[in-house]
Amino acid sequence: MNAVKIKDDIFWVGVNDYQTSLFEGLWPIDQEGVSYNAFVINDEKVAIIDTVKTIKADEYIKKIKSLIGDKKVDYLIVNHMEPDHSSGITDLLTEYPEMVIVGNKKTFPIMNNFYKITKNLHEVGEGDTLCLGKHTLQFFMTPMVHWPESMVTYDVTDKVLFSMDVFGSFKAPVGSIFDGDNDLDAFEEPTRRYYACIVGKVAGQALKALNKLGGIEISTICPSHGLIWRDNPKHILDMYVKMSAKETDPGVVIAYGSMYGCTQKAAEMLAIALKNEGVKEVKLYDVAKTDISFIISDIWKYKGLFLGAPSYYGQIFPKMANLLYKLGEIRVDNHKVGFFADFSWSGGADKSFNEFIEHAKVDTLNEILMIKGTPDEQDVADLNELAKKMAKEIIQ
Ligand code: FEO
Repeated sequence: MNAVKIKDDIFWVGVNDYQTSLFEGLWPIDQEGVSYNAFVINDEKVAIIDTVKTIKADEYIKKIKSLIGDKKVDYLIVNHMEPDHSSGITDLLTEYPEMVIVGNKKTFPIMNNFYKITKNLHEVGEGDTLCLGKHTLQFFMTPMVHWPESMVTYDVTDKVLFSMDVFGSFKAPVGSIFDGDNDLDAFEEPTRRYYACIVGKVAGQALKALNKLGGIEISTICPSHGLIWRDNPKHILDMYVKMSAKETDPGVVIAYGSMYGCTQKAAEMLAIALKNEGVKEVKLYDVAKTDISFIISDIWKYKGLFLGAPSYYGQIFPKMANLLYKLGEIRVDNHKVGFFADFSWSGGADKSFNEFIEHAKVDTLNEILMIKGTPDEQDVADLNELAKKMAKEIIQ
């Protein structure tokens, strides 16, 4: 895509990345890619808002030049220092060595750490403004959403919010960057997966940021990833408020690990029993086969959660340990969580589950149901009972 006009003097100069397999080296984005959105305000003074990952810097700079020709860049606004947005700074500085870099007091030490840049810096704080001519920019600090230095930039003139990671999503828009030209249902899961994995740990701070931004009039939201919300910014605002408030839908995720099918059998029995109890949304995930980002995304959505795993050398099945680690980080304190563990010659999974329960302050449905190998008649009855209890919690 070429540069795209958003408002009279405001343009998108972002890029789509289909090369990177793992976002942050962790989260799979092979299927749908991700966009790094950056923007030019072509006023009396030229301001650029954020850069892109350095692997795509050539494309980004070409787009900037297509808009401003031989004009110089006066300001680079750095909303966020994570290198998916900042690693293009050195490329941009090579083209425009005189530009002034705008950030806050927490931006510049991180910039020095990554890129050893210490000159031509302009520090801004909460509510400060910067006049470009026709446009005035205002800055709001949104610490820990997603890093300590994170801030957003508001174009007071056109009421455009450059919101950095806030309101972002996985999935690179194809053909058009605008919400009105895209199937919003197709962006729901990538938005939630992005939120749960990247922002989930700081949902409380995200809510504070949203409350702060709730006081300003917004015509268009320009996040650093995903769609530009020009036609229906309320759609993404509402979704973010719901996710940040940790509101859930009725439904149950069953995440299990299984070495030889015994725990899987118990998980499937639970799924059938939940359906029999009238729970319509039941998601069944094998933690060894599905990347945890997809499981966490559904866990963020649904109120009920069952976790089941076998013991493995006196510990818990390692792939479940990985999921527990991330759940401990993002917290599932708004969920009802049931547990089952399988063993034959030694326990261990139960110990890890109990440590998780204590550490993450989990609202548990049951004491861990221990199953010896293949579920027997009593186990089946216990699983049915668990499903009944969960259904009562879910369908109110
Ligand atoms: Fe898209 Fe926290 O960087």
